[in-house]
Amino acid sequence: MSKEIEITVDGKVRSRIFPGRTLAEAAPHLEGYPEIFIVHDVNAAQYAESLASLAGDRVRGLLPVEATEEEKTFGTVLRIDRWLMDRSADRQALLLAVGGGITTDMAGFAACIYKRGIRFAFVPTTLLSQVDAAIGGKTGVNFDAYKNMLGVIRQPEFTYICPEVLETLPQRDFLSGAAELLKTFLIEDRKGCYETSAALLKSLREGASRKEYAAEIQTLVMEAAAIKAGIVSRDPYEAGERRFLNLGHTFAHAIEHEGNSGTGPVPAPTHGEAVAMGILLAARLSESLGKARPGLVSRLRKDFTEAGLPARCPFSLESLAEAMERDKKAEDGRIHFVILREPGAVETVSLTVAEAIQLLEYK
Ligand code: GLY
Repeated sequence: MSKEIEITVDGKVRSRIFPGRTLAEAAPHLEGYPEIFIVHDVNAAQYAESLASLAGDRVRGLLPVEATEEEKTFGTVLRIDRWLMDRSADRQALLLAVGGGITTDMAGFAACIYKRGIRFAFVPTTLLSQVDAAIGGKTGVNFDAYKNMLGVIRQPEFTYICPEVLETLPQRDFLSGAAELLKTFLIEDRKGCYETSAALLKSLREGASRKEYAAEIQTLVMEAAAIKAGIVSRDPYEAGERRFLNLGHTFAHAIEHEGNSGTGPVPAPTHGEAVAMGILLAARLSESLGKARPGLVSRLRKDFTEAGLPARCPFSLESLAEAMERDKKAEDGRIHFVILREPGAVETVSLTVAEAIQLLEYK
């Protein structure tokens, strides 16, 4: 069984990541909170109710939210805060968010601004949120056409991770998280986890069941969580190393933007599918700059395809350029592109979008 992980900021432990096998094993982590308010994805009601039954009458209410990009707005955050206010939540309250990244981002943000900040904790119910969104304290909502434009970084009390919630996750959602899992091991290839994950994902695609491999999946998820926790502890506010976690994401956000504009394949790419395509573009950029190890792009293509992830972007580079220009991480028109040399070796290069596109076209 994996061990508990800590996130340290300014020399103090600010957040803990607890592993467990089942939701029921979360019970000890809910002790010590006199009032718990549960905000959950409407589709994760059964998990929220199971957690509520563990905490008994310390649970003051459950609020379902629609976890879609359209609903990921300041309006929903205000609705959560009004709900807390109507129930007289005070500064002792714990807001427990149960769901995927959209739910934990919105509920975390609502907790950060309610009475200038109350405690909050996450029980992520998707692979994507277990390995990424529910770790590291990024909270927020979309604003106009911009993703995650409003928000703050503040660490949750804890994140509880168990494989039970992944058993019934739709395959496409599972794969979406798998892309972030692979991304993490491409950034830091601890214990050969990249190769182990690629092999496990291949087996799952060939018919192995997630239930049968629950322990292996949990070990990899906790390894990815530990890598992210280390990066966040060293760079909580993304001044340097944390940027590596954006591997593939400048391209991915543009791909998602194009996908949602209705010009591409139907259904539009999921976040993880866009990340997989984005990682491949980042690897190609690295190749154009002469930095990638020979064979990197073809190896990634093979691994992603065998896992069931897309290996080619359906949009032209020109169509992605406009959305990339609007990337909120751009500084003075330049973006820190994360590029990959080989699994476990990344670096950033500062380029304008036009320079990046030119390098990719030249390839
Ligand atoms: N999702 C990237 C980060 O948390 O920094």
